[in-house]
Amino acid sequence: MTTKLLIFGITGDLSRRKLIPALEQITVTGNFDDLEVIGVSRREVDEKLLIRDERLAARTRVITMDVANPSEYERLKTEINMTENDQLLIYLSVPPSSSGQIVQLLGRAGINDDRVKLMLEKPFGTDLESAKHMSSQISEYFDDEQVYRIDHYLAKEMAQNIVAFRAHNALFAHVWDNSAIEKIEIKAYESIDIEGRTQFYEQTGALRDIVQGHLMQLLSLVIMDIPGDMHWSQVALHRLGALKSLRPADVTSTVRAQYAGYQDEVENPGSTTETFVSVRLESDAPKWTGVPFYLTTGKALDQKLTEIKVYFKKFHDAQTNCLIFRIQPEEGIEIALNTLKPDYEYEYEETRLSFNYPAGVVLPDAYEQVIVDAIRGHKHIFTSNDEVVRSWEVLQPLVSHWAMRDGCEYMYEKGSSAEQILADADAACKKE
Ligand code: BG6
Repeated sequence: MTTKLLIFGITGDLSRRKLIPALEQITVTGNFDDLEVIGVSRREVDEKLLIRDERLAARTRVITMDVANPSEYERLKTEINMTENDQLLIYLSVPPSSSGQIVQLLGRAGINDDRVKLMLEKPFGTDLESAKHMSSQISEYFDDEQVYRIDHYLAKEMAQNIVAFRAHNALFAHVWDNSAIEKIEIKAYESIDIEGRTQFYEQTGALRDIVQGHLMQLLSLVIMDIPGDMHWSQVALHRLGALKSLRPADVTSTVRAQYAGYQDEVENPGSTTETFVSVRLESDAPKWTGVPFYLTTGKALDQKLTEIKVYFKKFHDAQTNCLIFRIQPEEGIEIALNTLKPDYEYEYEETRLSFNYPAGVVLPDAYEQVIVDAIRGHKHIFTSNDEVVRSWEVLQPLVSHWAMRDGCEYMYEKGSSAEQILADADAACKKE
């Protein structure tokens, strides 16, 4: 079967930074020699400047078209020139305001039969209502089976390793519930600020940008059920089960903040958009009641770090043990143990057992994995519509509450640590 990959927005930021490098890497592996790439752009582009790798350039062509013009889609269909044995992957790397219309026009032109897969980038709506609206627009022309919603955090090697780790290590499987686990923290700290993406970020904010998709997905991987006979193809269903068990978020256990200087950057004095958020969630599943889950993310912090920390309950007076999934950088798994200090004093210290990938092992980039799995029809690293809707249901109380408030609760200086922001917010809260 030959794969044609049609990319709307091939000249855009995401395409240049992530998609084209991922395609170049896939080309190098030689596994997908029949892959043909067709880019769609509103304006003429110099293909040589866009794609520098000669092997990828040789199998890529860019079509200029007005994506809002319905009559252009007949021409597009002719250009794609599908045969019986082809599959077509349509990658929408366009602003959410255009994606609904493009999906409809593709459907009306008949570019939606069962040889077609539709790959969508987040955001999947901006709240519960808009997510449902988007879903109904898509389902008019595409079955959910054909839709591949991308959450590149799910495609990260270590995210998939969480499932493997939990499914294949009896040592932890027997203590993976509230009998032994005290709390779980999921962090995605970024040192970069909004990097000029002013319009996008003003409409988004940290909750929509990172928590609604990326962090909720990581949480579901950590708390989902893993039956003994589970196959990868069922992972999305189990993630949904985990999301369904979550209680709606409570605004009183959430910290929301903005970095100083943000409002000047977006030229919107009084902007209420948050660049930092920490949300506490709980599950109603009997095995997780009483275990808080803290999801925290922020821009312009002191470090880039994505990790999951599972804290085990204390045993008498001993320090807690902690299991850490390091998603990035330096992917790996660590276990914090308490051992005797090597001296005469009988004191204890924390020691870490760690798993790191051997030097020289290059992990596939998340976008490479996304494209390869879509070609192969492996859906478990993609988010289902039900997961998207459920995630919004859980977070909707925050979205609704913040829409009615004046501003962000806290300000922080660029380069602050997340721990400091949380401590300051806690102290300010106690004063009130
Ligand atoms: C994207 C967000 O989904 O993830 C960005 O829109 C963020 O704001 C990025 O910077 C972080 O991805 P990663 O893989 O660098 O952690």
